[in-house]
Amino acid sequence: MIEKRIKIGLVGCGQIADAHLQQIRRIPWADPVAVCDLEPLLARQAAERFEIPGQFTDLDQMIEQTRPDVVHLTTPVGSHRPLALQLLAAGVHVYVEKPFTVDADEAREVLAAARQAGRLVCLGHDQLFDPAWLECRRRVAAGAVGDVQHVESVLGYPLDGPFGTQVVANVDHWVRRLPGGLFQNTISHPLYRITEFLRDDEPEIQAAWFSRVPRIPFPTELRAHLAGEQVTGSLLFMSTTKPCHRLTRIYGTDGSLEVNLTSQLIRTDQIDRYPGAIARIEVPWRQVREASRNFRQNLLRFWRGDFHYFDGLKEMFRQFYQAILEGGESPVSGEEIVRVTAIMDRMFHACQREDDKRCDGRRQRRTTHSHIPETENAFEKRCDAADEVLCEKSP
Ligand SMILES: NC(=O)c1ccc[n+]([C@@H]2O[C@H](COP(=O)([O-])OP(=O)(O)OC[C@H]3O[C@@H](n4cnc5c(N)ncnc54)[C@H](O)[C@@H]3O)[C@@H](O)[C@H]2O)c1
Repeated sequence: MIEKRIKIGLVGCGQIADAHLQQIRRIPWADPVAVCDLEPLLARQAAERFEIPGQFTDLDQMIEQTRPDVVHLTTPVGSHRPLALQLLAAGVHVYVEKPFTVDADEAREVLAAARQAGRLVCLGHDQLFDPAWLECRRRVAAGAVGDVQHVESVLGYPLDGPFGTQVVANVDHWVRRLPGGLFQNTISHPLYRITEFLRDDEPEIQAAWFSRVPRIPFPTELRAHLAGEQVTGSLLFMSTTKPCHRLTRIYGTDGSLEVNLTSQLIRTDQIDRYPGAIARIEVPWRQVREASRNFRQNLLRFWRGDFHYFDGLKEMFRQFYQAILEGGESPVSGEEIVRVTAIMDRMFHACQREDDKRCDGRRQRRTTHSHIPETENAFEKRCDAADEVLCEKSP
C-alpha cells in the first residue's frame, strides 16, 4: 500500500498522451497536475478532458508553477534529449516514451545527466508490463519451455490506422524525418520482446527494409534476424497484413509458447507425450483444454471490465512512481535503455547498407541497359515500383 502521493506533469498532448492520462487516472495515489504542449489548444483539450488543473505552453513555467515530481515526455523523439536534460536539471524524474532518443549517444548523455542529478529515468517498454507478457515471463522463468533458443516477434502496423494515416498523409510528419523512418518510431515494441531473452550487448544483426506500397515514398516493411550467444531472434514488421499482430513466439529446448498481446492469449506447444497417431489426438485435445482455460480467463476479465489496451502502461507507471517514492530502481534500467537503443541504431545501419547495395545495383543496371530489365521474380516485381521511388530519393 502506497501512502504518499505523487505529482505528475505531461509534455506533448498528441496522440499517445490520452493513453497516458487515462492510465495515470487509474492509479489512485497519482495526481496529474499539469500538461504542456507548444500548441495551446492541444494543452487545453487534454487538461479539460482529464480534469487537470494546469495547462502550459512553456515547460519552465510548468515546472516552476506546479513542481511535479515526475514528467512524462510524449513528444516526438527528436525532442526527448533536450526536454529530458531540461527536466533533470530542474530535479524532476522523467518517463520517456519510446524510442528513448534519436541514437545511443544521446541516450548515454541523458542517463549521465540523470545520474548526476540523482533522478530516475524510465523508458516506455510498456508491453513488457502487459498482464499477458507478465504471465509469459513467469511461465518461462518456471521452465515452461526449457532453455530459450529463439524468439520470433511480430508487429503489424496498419498504415490506415490512427497513427499510420498521419504519417502517410503528412509529408512533413516528424516520423518521416527520423534516420530509421517509420521503424524508428515503432520497432522498439517488437524488439524489446526479443531482447528480454536475447541478453547480448552486440548481437549479430541482419536486417532489411523495403516497401510494398508504391504510392508511399518510404519503406513500410522490415525484416531482421538477430543472433546472440545463446538465443536468436527474428523480427517481422508488417504493414500490409491483417489482423495487426502483436505476437511473440518463444521457442525453447522443451516446448514453445505464443503470446498474443492483442487477444491476451497464451498458447503452449509441448513435446508430444504419446507416440505417433495417439499424439495427433492428444495434441488437439490439449489445445481445446487450453483454449477453454483462456476463454474462461478472458470472460472473467471482460465481466470485471478489466481489459485495457494500455494495461502495460499503467503497471509500468505504477512501478516507476513507486520507485520514485520509495527510493527504488526504475523498472527499465539505464543499461537496458542504452543496449536496446544501440541495437536499434545497428539495425537501421544494416537496413541502410542493404538499401545502398540495392540502389547501387539498380543504378548499375540502368547504366548498362539504359532501362531496368523487367524482373521475372514475382516478389521483386511487386516491390519494383516502390523501390524505384525509394532509390530515386536515396543519395
Ligand atoms: N507506447 C506506444 O504504444 C506509443 C504509441 C504512439 C506513440 N508513442 C510515442 O509517443 C511519442 C509521441 O508520439 P505521438 O504519436 O503522440 O506524437 P504526436 O505528433 O501526435 O504528438 C506530439 C505532441 O508533442 C507536442 N510537442 C512537440 N515538441 C514539443 C515541445 N518541445 N514541448 C511541448 N510539446 C511539444 C506537439 O505539439 C504534439 O502535440 C513518440 O515518441 C512515439 O513513439 C508511443
